[in-house]
Amino acid sequence: MAYSEKVIDHYENPRNVGAFDKNDPTVATGMVGAPACGDVMRLQLKIGDNGIIEDAKFKTYGCGSAIASSSLVTEWVKGKSIDEATEITNTDIAQELALPPVKIHCSILAEDAIKAAVSDYKSKQA
Ligand code: FES
Ligand code: FES
Repeated sequence: MAYSEKVIDHYENPRNVGAFDKNDPTVATGMVGAPACGDVMRLQLKIGDNGIIEDAKFKTYGCGSAIASSSLVTEWVKGKSIDEATEITNTDIAQELALPPVKIHCSILAEDAIKAAVSDYKSKQA
């Protein structure tokens, strides 16, 4: 199966790989797994007082499409509010990366990771 150029670019030069201190109260962590293949993605967001995402980092144990999807969303979420970030859908990701149907679940992992991180943030604020 041929990967699109954008997938290969993100896979070979992943943006924002790494981690923030999970005990930092401004850091939200979303950890999700894909039942279809066992791949795991951890997305962390650094969120300002105004609810704007200032920075993002990820670590993904998974296929090229999962790594590309997470790399892409770390770029997309920066500068967005947490509510705007949760509007990013797997369809947006799959279209941007031209993922084939068999790889759609990899983009779902990235959408789920954003939602998991935002709900972690909300529970930390509560
Ligand atoms: Fe093996 Fe996704 S199925 S890395
Ligand atoms: Fe499972 Fe890509 S094959 S996340």
